[in-house]
Amino acid sequence: MRLILSLVLIAAALPAATAIHCGKLLEVRTGELIPNATILVDGRTIRQAGANVVAPAGAARIDLSQSTCLPGLIDVHVHLTDEPRYSGYEGLGVSVPRQTVTGVKNARATLLAGFTVARNVGASGFSDVALRDGINDGDIEGPRLYVSGPPLGITGGHCDDNLLAPEFHFREEGVADGPWAARAKVRENIKYGADLIKVCASGGVMSKGDQPGTPQYSLEELQAIAAEAHKLGRKTAAHAHGAQSIKDAIRAGIDSVEHSSLIDEEGIALARQHGTFLVFDIYNDDYILAEGAKAGMLSESIEKEKQVGKLQRENFRKAYLAGAKIAFGTDAGVYPHGDNWKQFPIMVEWGMKPIEAIRSATTEAADLLGIGDKAGAIEPGRWADVIAVAGNPLEDISVLGRVHFVMKEGQVYRDDETSHHRH
Ligand code: ARG
Repeated sequence: MRLILSLVLIAAALPAATAIHCGKLLEVRTGELIPNATILVDGRTIRQAGANVVAPAGAARIDLSQSTCLPGLIDVHVHLTDEPRYSGYEGLGVSVPRQTVTGVKNARATLLAGFTVARNVGASGFSDVALRDGINDGDIEGPRLYVSGPPLGITGGHCDDNLLAPEFHFREEGVADGPWAARAKVRENIKYGADLIKVCASGGVMSKGDQPGTPQYSLEELQAIAAEAHKLGRKTAAHAHGAQSIKDAIRAGIDSVEHSSLIDEEGIALARQHGTFLVFDIYNDDYILAEGAKAGMLSESIEKEKQVGKLQRENFRKAYLAGAKIAFGTDAGVYPHGDNWKQFPIMVEWGMKPIEAIRSATTEAADLLGIGDKAGAIEPGRWADVIAVAGNPLEDISVLGRVHFVMKEGQVYRDDETSHHRH
């Protein structure tokens, strides 16, 4: 009797299945909108999804019958510990603990905007590792994070910091010159918790005293970094605006090229041949030109933005038309976190169909992160990462800016409009 009673109590304490009723369910692989669909969630994962799913008696119900459900979105290029106002000299006064607090705020903003997974590609003091672990431990709310730790770069390059005079002897923690120093840095980042390795192959926009089109790491150094990271089971992402650095990164075996701004025909062909993902942060240009000066960005950065912004969008279109693999990455932190969706309409304006833009932030992004079997689609066995919007994103991609329901791994973090009926 007592045994039966305790079994009953255990069963009651277990999270029962939850049935989410969706007015429409977007199947990202086929691009089909399935009317009156049900997603059956069991704990952290999806048990079943589709039109003919019957909810078991006793299942909790979530009514999204006026909404379109889609998989949680993925941004493969964010900097949660950064804010637009940290870009120029003001950023020098922001401590790593303060950056971490900023990251706590931005992790939550990103999740509530519908991004249930994000890749953080560059942070100081392993603040990103702390964020990831805090989220996984349930201490703070945020997307499931994949993090790089401090990005690798050459002395005086985009991933160093050139704002201070020589007598301050400042050097960013990810600086490493030469193949063996770079390999040692890869090992160190992995030692302290990096999931992937981020490297600065070319110059950049937000850095002082360099040019986006100019190579920084040599091919030899990039090869060493990619080989070391892969040997230790980690993927690699290279910041590369310039055509030469993009090709060097691809030839070195880097897994994704970030920014990709000045990619040429040969670079696009190489990316296709190697299966390298290209990431184009093409919303940034709007924000930097409109708000950058007010945010304290260097005037040099705004000048450089004027040189690359438009070309990056044109090259995005070329790479897309050529059939290159493109993953959704926005460089949030340069612009305010939570506005990640604003890149979707730009991607559509520059050539993608809405469903393709959504795939870049779901199935494609999941593949790049190596979680193609866990995230990116609402299918049995995957994490129960589900978001909902009013309206049809295939007709109007900007509805992704009004996410009103967010479930991550079976837990609801946002629910603005639905009514819950428990049976
Ligand atoms: N973090 C990048 C850099 O400083 C931002 C580039 C922004 N511009 C753009 N058009 N995507 O280089």
